[in-house]
Amino acid sequence: PETGCLSIIVLGASGDLAKKKTFPALFNLYRQGFLQSNEVHIFGYARTKISDDELRDRIQDYLPQGKEGTEDVSSFLQLIKYVSGSYDAPEGFKALDKAISEHEISTNSTEGSSRRLFYLALPPSVYPQVCKMIKNHSMNKSDFGGWTRIVVEKPFGKDLASAEELSSQIGELFEEPQIFRIDHYLGKELVQNLLVLRFANRFFLPLWNRDNIANVQIVFREDFGTEGRGGYFDQYGIIRDIIQNHLLQVLCLVAMEKPVSLKPEHIRDEKVKVLQSIVPIKDEEVVLGQYEGYKDDPTVPDKSNTPTFATMVLRIHNERWEGVPFIMKAGKALNSRKAEIRVQFKDVPGDIFKCQKQGRNEFVIRLQPSEAMYMKLTVKQPGLEMSTAQSELDLSYRQRYQGVVIPEAYERLILDTIKGDQQHFVRRDELKAAWEIFTPLLHRIDNGEIRSLEYKPGSRGPAAADELLEKAGYRQTHGY
Ligand code: BG6
Repeated sequence: PETGCLSIIVLGASGDLAKKKTFPALFNLYRQGFLQSNEVHIFGYARTKISDDELRDRIQDYLPQGKEGTEDVSSFLQLIKYVSGSYDAPEGFKALDKAISEHEISTNSTEGSSRRLFYLALPPSVYPQVCKMIKNHSMNKSDFGGWTRIVVEKPFGKDLASAEELSSQIGELFEEPQIFRIDHYLGKELVQNLLVLRFANRFFLPLWNRDNIANVQIVFREDFGTEGRGGYFDQYGIIRDIIQNHLLQVLCLVAMEKPVSLKPEHIRDEKVKVLQSIVPIKDEEVVLGQYEGYKDDPTVPDKSNTPTFATMVLRIHNERWEGVPFIMKAGKALNSRKAEIRVQFKDVPGDIFKCQKQGRNEFVIRLQPSEAMYMKLTVKQPGLEMSTAQSELDLSYRQRYQGVVIPEAYERLILDTIKGDQQHFVRRDELKAAWEIFTPLLHRIDNGEIRSLEYKPGSRGPAAADELLEKAGYRQTHGY
């Protein structure tokens, strides 16, 4: 592993993302020994004029307090320095460069090599100007090696054209290996497990195709609304917020062919192929919803048609998946919080038990909460009679891996950015292909051609979504 001075610069240091995700993830990495205090410094950068201590106070409340007490917290906070400045004027970025250089000189363990990781916890509208400032004033200029990397968060644009524009603006300043586009779903334990599951198990290899699989559902549900984020959310809606990125990434991993190797480029090549094989989404295979009360938020316009719920069918036109509906479902303010993948198998041909009505084989991967994988299968009902019942083979992580702490998605991903491993990040052509799939549909929605149906908060969403599911061939399990 590389050693020497590492500077992590969190731009937008006093914002929500930085406080809730970035700093806590850095803290966890620090606690586990991944960030050594003799070589790492963390810099917060934002417009507000505050002192180092004021920033530390603001961050402190969000740090997960372990059994170890507060010692770790205070030594971690001491690694953080604050620099204030605007996002479009050189002065602030020059001051930042000076602060980083001072740290590098004082740490100077490897003849001045410098690793600079810029984490943009900022609205994408300022990405181009901030990248320009970094490029001109705060990059690593050491003759002794090192690097400069940029970490950016979605939303990467609002449609194909705006995403491409953003990509070219950043692409003119930094090379692709320097740019890390985060999709935090790629950092989740069970999402990372998908490749192993699919390609290291003989069980799945022969079954994972159109001959055996009836349909696949990829589901995201939240039991809270857009509280406090109405202004942002109304500009984007659930498809841009969840489906176009998080769920689509999961779909890629479920559907892709085996990569040539585990090299990030090989994996991402296969993902791009899946995306390019997805055919245009039909309006009749889309149900949109908006929960009652969404428009009470003063930042949401009274006439908003922005969906807070969507179910749609994606179809992959290739040899493995032709005819298998991939049902994407995401919603806010529903009856539960859950993210899962459900792979439903076809009926057993020549069913001598007449048991198919009870339910089909189904393989479920629960990403959260309580990570688990289970297989629904038909067994003989224990007892004297020869009757059948649905049961489960169940791998619940909490039970099986007692005492093992599953890392937070952000923790893993930030560690990857330090290592320079891009496997779990979105490549530029992948992003483009993802927008190509959704842009025509999103434009029709934005033009009001597809209306959002109202649903009650705390419900399952609009009833029409269940009808669509049924039409796509999903069969509920009965008697279980
Ligand atoms: C974010 C979305 O990307 O993911 C939020 O912007 C959503 O709307 C969040 O709540 C969900 O993440 P997780 O990890 O809690 O499922």
